[in-house]
Amino acid sequence: MFFKKKPLTQTSTNLTLDHDRIPKHVAIIMDGNGRWAKQQGLPRVAGHQRGMEVVKDITKAASDLGVQALTLYAFSTENWKRPANEVGFLMKLPGRFFDTFVPELNENNVKVQVMGYIDQLPADTQRAVNDAIAQTAQNTGMVLNFALNYGGRAEIITGVQQLAQKVVAGELEASEIDETQITNSLMTAPLGELADPDLLIRTSGEQRLSNFMLWQLAYAEFVFIEQHWPAVTPAVFEQALITYQMRDRRFGGIKENNSDVK
Ligand code: FPP
Repeated sequence: MFFKKKPLTQTSTNLTLDHDRIPKHVAIIMDGNGRWAKQQGLPRVAGHQRGMEVVKDITKAASDLGVQALTLYAFSTENWKRPANEVGFLMKLPGRFFDTFVPELNENNVKVQVMGYIDQLPADTQRAVNDAIAQTAQNTGMVLNFALNYGGRAEIITGVQQLAQKVVAGELEASEIDETQITNSLMTAPLGELADPDLLIRTSGEQRLSNFMLWQLAYAEFVFIEQHWPAVTPAVFEQALITYQMRDRRFGGIKENNSDVK
């Protein structure tokens, strides 16, 4: 055999992190809470509870490393299909998380934002989220952006409907709808130039997008890791960043120093 198949995900065991090339925006699909719990002989919700503690650890690690925006997929528009007790538990998590963690978010200058259909959440979940947003609004460091009751296709539909309404109202020409218009109509618009993640991490060995940030991930690097979310440590997170740094991002172009360029 002359050619060896390239592994899907390059490993990076002996390399160290380059602190000058930290991805600005990291998005994470936090998968595997249920499987982790099952492995431990615990109910599924115990996986979500442990997952919440890991959110704290990774938020702190990302902020310390200089990540500017961290988006976490906490609840999708499809997750309502889960058993009522699990949905109820997941709806209580933001309250528990912010009750215990807002002081530390403030110590670390981390600002909370939320994207998703928040008005469809239970009233106390909405209150917890809005309180955390207000209590951290003055912070200027990393943005901790929770995707809560979020779906990528729904987000695009809502954004396009808003643009269509502007066309009907005569405020916009159909021909003026371009990438910038669509970007500005999505739920990541408040992130400004940080709207598009540089790196997507998905835990638990699954390699799919599950309706997450479909527009914004167009040029992101994907890193899939084997650990279930509740087993992710800051060292595992750092390893994913090292894997990202091994990638060659070209955004559809060619390498700047490519000697073949004529
Ligand atoms: C996917 O694992 C995980 C979720 C649907 C929920 C993610 C939520 C957290 C990690 C906690 C969120 C914390 C805050 C602060 C809101 P799964 O249940 O699909 O796992 P499985 O695929 O193994 O069943």
